[in-house]
Amino acid sequence: SDMGLKDYYKNYFPVGVAVGPRNLAGPEAEFIIKQFNSLTPENAMKMGPIHPQENQYFWRDADSIVNFAQHHGLRVRGHNLCWHEQTPNWIFKDSLGHQVTKAVLLKRLHDHIQTVVSRYKGKIYAWDVVNEAIADDKTQFLRNSPWYQICGEDFIAKAFEYAHEADPKAVLFYNDYNTERPEKLERIYRLLKKLIDAKVPINAVGLQAHWSVYEPSATELRNTIEKFASLGLKVQITELDVSIYPWEKERRELRPGEKGEYTPELEQKQTAKYKEVFDVFRQYKKDITGVTFWNISDRYTWLDTYPVAGRKNFPLLFDTNLQPKKAFYEVTNFKK
Ligand code: G3I
Repeated sequence: SDMGLKDYYKNYFPVGVAVGPRNLAGPEAEFIIKQFNSLTPENAMKMGPIHPQENQYFWRDADSIVNFAQHHGLRVRGHNLCWHEQTPNWIFKDSLGHQVTKAVLLKRLHDHIQTVVSRYKGKIYAWDVVNEAIADDKTQFLRNSPWYQICGEDFIAKAFEYAHEADPKAVLFYNDYNTERPEKLERIYRLLKKLIDAKVPINAVGLQAHWSVYEPSATELRNTIEKFASLGLKVQITELDVSIYPWEKERRELRPGEKGEYTPELEQKQTAKYKEVFDVFRQYKKDITGVTFWNISDRYTWLDTYPVAGRKNFPLLFDTNLQPKKAFYEVTNFKK
């Protein structure tokens, strides 16, 4: 058919995809334009890749994504401004290799955000300002990252203030994973409420949605959306994929016999999970302002090497030949 995902969902929300520069030429480029109307750079705008040295920015990859989007009328979500991963080596250290002070680190964060956000002002409509600041350990509140060790909690509010100063019209997000797990939901809620009470310019929350055929349940997802919406925040699904394996983040070894076989039973489970979550997304269209997939098709997914290498994953709506899977037909089969 001539209809892409974005067309089925035109009365609901933009449908996006995470890309790198290599996806923007050849058959994949055509495919992106047909299916999606929003792009997120998978890696190109993260602090390490885009700001490798203190006074040196690397714009080529990020620019190529933004230019492609402008040319074809797609939106861009900026990803991301402050995270504990993919940070450049220099950011936390002075020239002697000692840890910098809070004042120096906040100044660097300010310069970074000011430079990156203003470069794309008017071309990037939304930014993931702070990514994954909540701890994985449920007995902790914030993640014990260098940002936190050096600045305490303040870096979060500051990052939002700097982004707002650089582009007052950009929609500013806090973005995280496992947002549907009740104990993490509580802690994220607590952080967001604190920011809002302190009048920090935050508009929305991103549910990364690195899900699996086993979780979350529709009820957990509804609770999550309602809880964030109750704070007056918009919600986006920012990094959607549905792993065929249960999530065990700390795994480093393949289990014996585990080769990554995509059985009909697993595909059926996955199709059902995709249908279930898209039914919820449509129900909450007043709160949900975008749904973005983390990668284009099962040909390439970050889950092929994470959390364990050596097993293939098949987490997306299109197969390794860019053909729609059962789940695609299921999520596009609804009364418009
Ligand atoms: O570019 C270098 C290359 O020069 C080097 O030779 C090679 C050797 O390891 O690494 C390449 O960098 C890799 C980079 O992806 C680009 O391919 C990094 O090792 C690798 O760690 C990095 O992984 C990315 C990951 O974020 C970083 O933590 C994934 O592609 C990307 O999909 C993933 O995305 C994150 C979101 O930003 C935030 N939410 C979770 C999501 C999944 O982890």
